Amino acid sequence: MTDPTTVEDQKSLPILGSEDFRLRPLRLGDEAALLEYLSQPGVIEHTSIPAPTLESLTASVQRDITAYAKSTSFRFAVAASDDRLIGICGFNSWSPAHRHAELAYDLAPQYWGQGVMRRAVVAMLTWGFSELGLNRVHAFVMTSNHRSIRLLERCGFSREGTLRQYRIARGEPKDFHLYALLAQDFARTARGASPNQAMQRTAGRSDA
Ligand SMILES: CC(C)(COP(=O)(O)OP(=O)(O)OC[C@H]1O[C@@H](n2cnc3c(N)ncnc32)[C@H](O)[C@@H]1OP(=O)(O)O)[C@@H](O)C(=O)NCCC(=O)NCCS
Repeated sequence: MTDPTTVEDQKSLPILGSEDFRLRPLRLGDEAALLEYLSQPGVIEHTSIPAPTLESLTASVQRDITAYAKSTSFRFAVAASDDRLIGICGFNSWSPAHRHAELAYDLAPQYWGQGVMRRAVVAMLTWGFSELGLNRVHAFVMTSNHRSIRLLERCGFSREGTLRQYRIARGEPKDFHLYALLAQDFARTARGASPNQAMQRTAGRSDA
């Protein structure tokens, strides 16, 4: 098994810029907290996440830990002050050649509506554009996932199109919007050119 601290040794970690919550590497044992919130009604409804089981989530966490060492993807735990996982935020399928990555996230519903994931996303973007040298971050969001759409747009993402029946969500083909954010747009936004001042406030480190 790969030591999850490897990712800390290789690169700095994204800073969430909050005393109450932080981003940390996933570790075996997190699957129980993941199962607890992914099993709650409505959480996976507007996503293509398969119906969760402890076994499938253990395998998923193990894949994420392995991916740190291979630098193929960087998905982090959003942790509360007691270090308990309350969500996941990170990049799937990082392409160093093309300098792009896919953003993905989910959060325990008791924390929805408090801006927690917005801060986590901004921290990941700040880290990704600086530490990973990303030029583009994209996200696929089910057309019915209004919370997630709002979150992406608040973070400066633009809708590039709609992919018809792009993913099968628990047996049903579903349409997904493709959203993307370029480094140049993020830099402009972080300088305050956009109305989204929240980004500047929550971007965490500026020296990365
Ligand atoms: C998507 C998710 C991470 C959003 O995180 P969050 O921190 O709870 O975000 P919020 O609840 O603050 O909502 C984000 C925005 O949506 C708005 N919003 C809330 N409910 C909404 C609704 N029913 N319809 C439209 N917008 C809504 C909020 O007002 C907020 O906008 P604001 O920042 O302008 O106020 C969370 O809802 C989640 O984990 N959902 C289940 C998993 C999932 O869908 N993952 C994403 C897959 S693409």
